[in-house]
Amino acid sequence: KDVLQIGMIGLGTVGTGVLRILEKNGEEIRHKLGVGLEVKRIAVRDPHKPREIEVDPSLIVDHPDHVVNDPDIDIVVEVMGGVDLARQAIARALENGKFVVTANKDLMAQHGLELLAIAKNQNRNIFYEASVAGGIPLIRPLKNSLAANHIEKVMGIVNGTTNYILTQMSCEGKEFSEALAEAQEKGFAEADPASDIEGLDASYKLAIIAALSFSSKIDMKDIFVEGITNVKLRDIRYAQELGYAIKLLAIGEETEEGLQLRVHPTLIPADHPLAAVANEFNAIFLEGDAVGEVMFYGPGAGSLPTGSAVCADIMDAARCLQHEVENGIVEATFGTKKVVPMEK
Ligand code: NAP
Ligand code: HSE
Repeated sequence: KDVLQIGMIGLGTVGTGVLRILEKNGEEIRHKLGVGLEVKRIAVRDPHKPREIEVDPSLIVDHPDHVVNDPDIDIVVEVMGGVDLARQAIARALENGKFVVTANKDLMAQHGLELLAIAKNQNRNIFYEASVAGGIPLIRPLKNSLAANHIEKVMGIVNGTTNYILTQMSCEGKEFSEALAEAQEKGFAEADPASDIEGLDASYKLAIIAALSFSSKIDMKDIFVEGITNVKLRDIRYAQELGYAIKLLAIGEETEEGLQLRVHPTLIPADHPLAAVANEFNAIFLEGDAVGEVMFYGPGAGSLPTGSAVCADIMDAARCLQHEVENGIVEATFGTKKVVPMEK
């Protein structure tokens, strides 16, 4: 094939980012893949809603079924969110022989193993790099580059909305509700922001990271979760006076008694690198027995950063289709760019 067909489910914050990247970097992506990517259908809830991005109206459909049952579509990109409909749509897409890319942590944390099993049966795969920490590469390093390590601990800031709120409260003196409204406006928050501020979103991400880090099935009910709804401006001020920052941390640790998994607001010494992680940025520390401590840092939410991870997954899915492999890891393609000679 010269062109692979993409079917999208969702055209909100993340879906718009994906389209923008495919549009802007389409030629470079074609060069890297040796095949073009074309968006053939996009399912949305309300086909008549005005969009931030110009889209050919003939691409828009009003139900995920029109995407997953289209025989011409090679790769389905689920950026709709929610659990039940997304789970049905992804299962059907896999059964119909498509590769799947998703940014949906709620779904992958709760039903990931079941969906990955369907994928394996179909000789297909699900890519979910964007489900944890937006644009930061984390799922691939855990599955690949760090795979030889025994990981003892993973800890970090994995929710952009709550980190934005805590940063704005501590640095700008804003009230919680004002900072939350801004995070929603900027597209960082979930459709129901209770998931962010009550710590659930971070707990889904912790479940995914812990499953990969500790090679273990993780049951959501085993994760202790406390969000930031009880953090007041005065708590932040007292913490600052004592030389601490308050951050919502997700922590997974292998102890002698077993795995400890928890999400809660934590006092961090002001000179610790996590204290300097501001706004929607995320940072994750991993401790491997061979590599030692590794830190991942970058934008953890937002349209283009998350779109970046989704598009990389689409590219891996495309490589799978071209090379008839399941995981998309193939050698990079190299062109020839002119090099500017440097004066001595
Ligand atoms: P969003 O802005 O609310 O967009 C959701 C999209 O899904 C909208 O286009 C909506 O259609 C469509 N949709 C909703 N219900 C539908 C249905 N029943 N049938 C068809 N389409 C439906 O959400 P988002 O922020 O892009 O997030 C999407 C996913 O990415 C979620 O799983 C989220 O957790 C994840 N994620 C988000 C971020 C981020 O920074 N926002 C980062 C990483 C991961 P309408 O446009 O017609 O309403
Ligand atoms: N609502 C999520 C956050 C989006 O704020 O981190 C990125 O997963």
